[in-house]
Amino acid sequence: MGKITAAITAVGAYVPEFRLTNKMLETMVDTNDEWITTRTGIKERRILKDKGKGTSYLAIKAAEELISKANIDTKEIDLVIVGTATPDLPVASTSAYVAAKIGASNAFAFDMQAACSNFLYGMSTAARYIESGRYKKVLLIGADKMSSILDYTDRTTCIIFGDGAGAVLFEPNTEGFGLQDEFLRSDGSGREYLKIEAGGSILPATEETVKNKQHFVYQDGKSVFKFAVSNMADVAAKIMDRNSLSHDDVDWLVAHQANKRIIDATARRMDVDSSKVMMNIDKYGNTTSATLPLLLADYEKQLKKGDNLVFAAFGGGFTWGSIYLKWAYN
Ligand code: UT7
Repeated sequence: MGKITAAITAVGAYVPEFRLTNKMLETMVDTNDEWITTRTGIKERRILKDKGKGTSYLAIKAAEELISKANIDTKEIDLVIVGTATPDLPVASTSAYVAAKIGASNAFAFDMQAACSNFLYGMSTAARYIESGRYKKVLLIGADKMSSILDYTDRTTCIIFGDGAGAVLFEPNTEGFGLQDEFLRSDGSGREYLKIEAGGSILPATEETVKNKQHFVYQDGKSVFKFAVSNMADVAAKIMDRNSLSHDDVDWLVAHQANKRIIDATARRMDVDSSKVMMNIDKYGNTTSATLPLLLADYEKQLKKGDNLVFAAFGGGFTWGSIYLKWAYN
């Protein structure tokens, strides 16, 4: 038997119905469609409006789509990983709740937190469990209800993010498909640039922190942009180099959807044609943990067995990296 690799064998996704368009945002903050479109590439994002529904709602919907599409017996799922920056509750695993709700009664489950690199790091983690030979079905979900941590009077953040979820199933493969290589990085000196200041162990919630709006996402966009644009391109180029992939060998760039200009710069550095760059930032904005699986879901019909996919992401922390994966099905 050949070496066990971890292949993606099914994909599911979910975004809420409500569309928050650039035009609507024009009535909420001092911004305009032209600025948002040219600076970010975003036209609209989806928002989960229903009171009392959190990230698990999005994650369960995405998982259920995958399960019904691929006809999975949920009792066979060994592990459920939910990557999220917006867990249902600060304590109590969102993934355990999701696993219970989808009927994965034989699985163990845990959450991951690496901000916008959640799904990328999650792919690495899921792959290790599969490659060990001990686990046969690992469900990886990236889900975020970003609207729950946004200040809709702050034009520098509220125009960027949206809500959504995507799920993939990892299974063992002995024909060489699946995850081939990865290069993951982090640099904690960057945490000042993109964070939620209060509500954690340093600054627990008080009346003061609520009044000061310290429970919302803060981003120094310009600084994050500079780090993201150079680091994402660097790691993607490194993965290509290390695996002797020319721009012709790369079939798809699957990049975190934070800003179209960052994605375009990464593609230019890799010298891959724009027709090979998965893009849906215009429809969903930055959904944090969900951007990569939402791309896979949107492009699934165009993917062919053996396609070379290069993933890249950058997020708060800072965290970033690139993964090379061979697609396993038509
Ligand atoms: O997903 C995790 C990683 N995150 C990222 O990768 C995000 C990286 N950063 C970015 O994508 C960009 O920095 C932003 C989209 C957040 C901002 O774009 P920018 O081109 O860096 O704009 P800026 O922050 O330098 O602001 C330029 C101007 C400023 O006005 P002045 O000082 O030049 O007069 C801003 O006040 O644009 C102004 N501005 C806006 N104008 C209209 C900022 N936000 C808005 C807005 N509408 N929504």
